[in-house]
Amino acid sequence: MPSFLLKLTRVVLSHKLWAVFFLIFVFISFTYHKLYWGIWEDSENRFPTHGLSAESSCAHYVPSPLSTVGGPSPSAGNVFFVETSQQTAPSYLFSCSVESAARTHPASRVVVLMRGLDKKNTSLPKHWAFSLLSCFPNVEIRPLDLTELFSGTPLAQWYLQPQRHLEPHFFPVLSDACRIVLMWKFGGIYLDTDFIVLKNLQNLTNALGIQDHDVLNGAFLSFKPKHKFMELCIQDFVEDYNGWIWGHQGPELLSRVFKKWCSIRTIRSMSCQGVNALPPEAVYPVPWQDWKKLFEAVNASEFHKLLKNTYAVHIWNKLSHGTKLEIPSQALLAQLYSQFCPATYAKMKQDSEQLSRRAV
Ligand SMILES: *[C@@H]1O[C@H](CO)[C@@H](O)[C@H](O)[C@H]1NC(C)=O
Ligand SMILES: *[C@@H]1O[C@H](CO)[C@@H](O)[C@H](O)[C@H]1NC(C)=O
Ligand SMILES: *[C@@H]1O[C@H](CO)[C@@H](O)[C@H](O)[C@H]1NC(C)=O
Repeated sequence: MPSFLLKLTRVVLSHKLWAVFFLIFVFISFTYHKLYWGIWEDSENRFPTHGLSAESSCAHYVPSPLSTVGGPSPSAGNVFFVETSQQTAPSYLFSCSVESAARTHPASRVVVLMRGLDKKNTSLPKHWAFSLLSCFPNVEIRPLDLTELFSGTPLAQWYLQPQRHLEPHFFPVLSDACRIVLMWKFGGIYLDTDFIVLKNLQNLTNALGIQDHDVLNGAFLSFKPKHKFMELCIQDFVEDYNGWIWGHQGPELLSRVFKKWCSIRTIRSMSCQGVNALPPEAVYPVPWQDWKKLFEAVNASEFHKLLKNTYAVHIWNKLSHGTKLEIPSQALLAQLYSQFCPATYAKMKQDSEQLSRRAV
């Protein structure tokens, strides 16, 4: 170092002007580099907090084999979801339901009908779930026009009654009405927005699930269009109508009609006249009385044993929605999210990490 300085001094003294230019050049280069690298490093440090840019990228959510499927084929029936309240801010569970159905039914259109969406406005409200679900080429989110849906069925008249919306179970009853009309008019699969779908459901036709002893539930329905069984359900809906008893137009209606259809007193896993009552493990593997099991840890062997013959898991949102789910964890529900709706799960994890960082 000293010899270098000594040399420099000597050079400066002998070539004064050139040396001064040279030193200025070195100084400017040095400053420029310092500034340039400083900015670059700074922007790199800041990058991960730009959550939005990472969020809007579909590749981040959807594995490429799925996005290159190129959307639904017209031969496969639709999968329908319905939101009969005005709600347009989907929950994690709602997003997971649609995502898991989209992943397991790449050849079907997954149609999400929402009453809260404006018919005249084609752009969806700004919400992470809509951006996430729009990444799936087979998902369609559309406004639900009840007058149009019920038209040409006995439910058009029923819906016209002006005092309808004052009934205590109006939204669930409306949702009961929508599903049987969708099945009758279009056929396909209907799912409540609190299902997590594990397998393709297309092989289960003209089917519904037994929820527990002697009761069929309509949270999952799969029917060919214009099926006589659904026609009888629509008929019973208006003729035996009672909006004041919980479930009268839902599970009780389906159970009533099925008993008549099969001329039986008690419902068990069976098939009669082409309609299949599936055993509880098919779509209701966790009975509603045991909903807390969803939040309990299970190991891999229990998980597989429980879901061996299961196509979809009903989450009983009405009972479970107030319970906080720890993620990541070995809880049954956390494992279902992480395996069957990984994009929604990633969003849940990101949100919970952000919350705990803020709490520190
Ligand atoms: C359409 O909906 C979007 C999202 O909710 C909203 O931002 C926009 O203002 C609406 N446009 C009109 C014309 O109402
Ligand atoms: C559906 O049924 C067909 C024919 O019976 C069978 O080959 C196929 O493996 C089934 N698919 C599923 C997902 O069960
Ligand atoms: C999983 O849990 C069950 C019930 O708690 C237990 O009997 C079984 O030994 C466990 N299996 C493993 C591999 O840990």
